Amino acid sequence: MTDNSSSDKPWGGRFTESTDAFVEAFTASVEFDRRLYRYDIQGSRAHARMLEKVGVISHSECDAIIDGLDRIEEDIEQGRFAWSVSLEDVHMNIEARLTALIGEAGKKLHTGRSRNDQVATDLRLYLRDQIQAVCGELLRLQTGLLDLAEREVDTLMPGFTHLQVAMPVSFGHHMLAWFENLQRDRERFMDCLKRVNIMPLGAAALAGTSFPIDRHYSAELLGFSAPAENSLDAVSDRDFVIEFCSCAALLLTHLSRCSEELILWSSAQFAFIDLPDRFCTGSSIMPQKKNPDVPELVRGKSGRVTGHLVGLLMLMKAQPLAYNKDNQEDKEPLFDTVDTVLGCLRAFADMVPALQVRADNMRSAAASGYSTATDLADYLVRKGMAFRDAHEVVGKAVRLGIESGRDLADMRLSELQALSDRIEEDVYTVLTLEGSVSARDHFGGTAPAQVRAAIGRARKRIL
Ligand code: ARG
Repeated sequence: MTDNSSSDKPWGGRFTESTDAFVEAFTASVEFDRRLYRYDIQGSRAHARMLEKVGVISHSECDAIIDGLDRIEEDIEQGRFAWSVSLEDVHMNIEARLTALIGEAGKKLHTGRSRNDQVATDLRLYLRDQIQAVCGELLRLQTGLLDLAEREVDTLMPGFTHLQVAMPVSFGHHMLAWFENLQRDRERFMDCLKRVNIMPLGAAALAGTSFPIDRHYSAELLGFSAPAENSLDAVSDRDFVIEFCSCAALLLTHLSRCSEELILWSSAQFAFIDLPDRFCTGSSIMPQKKNPDVPELVRGKSGRVTGHLVGLLMLMKAQPLAYNKDNQEDKEPLFDTVDTVLGCLRAFADMVPALQVRADNMRSAAASGYSTATDLADYLVRKGMAFRDAHEVVGKAVRLGIESGRDLADMRLSELQALSDRIEEDVYTVLTLEGSVSARDHFGGTAPAQVRAAIGRARKRIL
């Protein structure tokens, strides 16, 4: 920041004293909203072209404005632009520089527009790009999950309920569950994009403008699907920011759950996976440690994103129509949400293909937790027993197993037959892990053949 004088405000006309120095810093947003510069310039270019089209500015004035804006964009990109806190925000910094560069024509750019419709437009242009970036990273992660699922279709692990061993599942099936979460997240972002891609420009301060503007033309130039219907609504609501942050909070809630599983699975107690060293860190005191920092951080960051969502809801809830300065507070939480989501997705998308699966440990965990008990009950039902009675018989078999330290598949046929005379030699085919998963052979089930088919469908669904 260079120039810090409080005189020469673009709105200084009606003021008799200059702004208090603290108030100037307190009300300024340029330190963070300068991030929007590219979108501010994009919006200004379209506005100038529209003003020329409807005859409010001349062809040569429009050209001068476009050239000036090009130069400013280049200067900002090269780090040559002198941002000034006394010019408050990104919009007035760029406009003041434009006038300094091209003179009179620069002063005409703001005809028929206000910073209120300008900032709302900038934010929507920015968010549109960010949603595309988020969806791109999500897709990369989803593709990684499908590849991992495909590699590990036949790897069997215990599925859990209440974090207790429940039934064996294919590890590929588990990865597909993550995939489905993320698919819905991506659909939510794409749906949010429809409401983001509406143009506030032309609403001006709140009521529209007395100039004969062509908002459909500006919208077309900027690639918006339509101009906003109502000028008051267009400048005042930030529901599109809230909606994005709500999609982000859900996504990070999902990534947090995945993180929790990765953290558990990489512990010595589970030892189901190894995270590659490059995604872990050590301890400064305990030489043996390899900590799953990346998933832990993602789990932690989910909290701050949900915090931003709640903060934005609170920001909005008591504002009367139309624009209020409160809305300047939307940017930092939004920017941080975008950065956090992109960072977490990148970490996950890089890490997932590199996960090393310890299939033997998964298998022995599944084989030692009575995970095929339900299969035995289902077997008895197929042999004519009512399910409740079968449940009782198998419960007794499990108790015998616990007392003698064995799983169901390790018991002698005579021991099992002592519990029910319906049990025959063929019982062992249902007591194995393979028998159990391959029996769940229907749409959405964990039979490896079904998992393979689901992977095939998933690949088509993300095309
Ligand atoms: N920096 C402001 C914001 O982020 C721009 C709009 C200011 N408008 C106004 N009437 N003061 O919301």
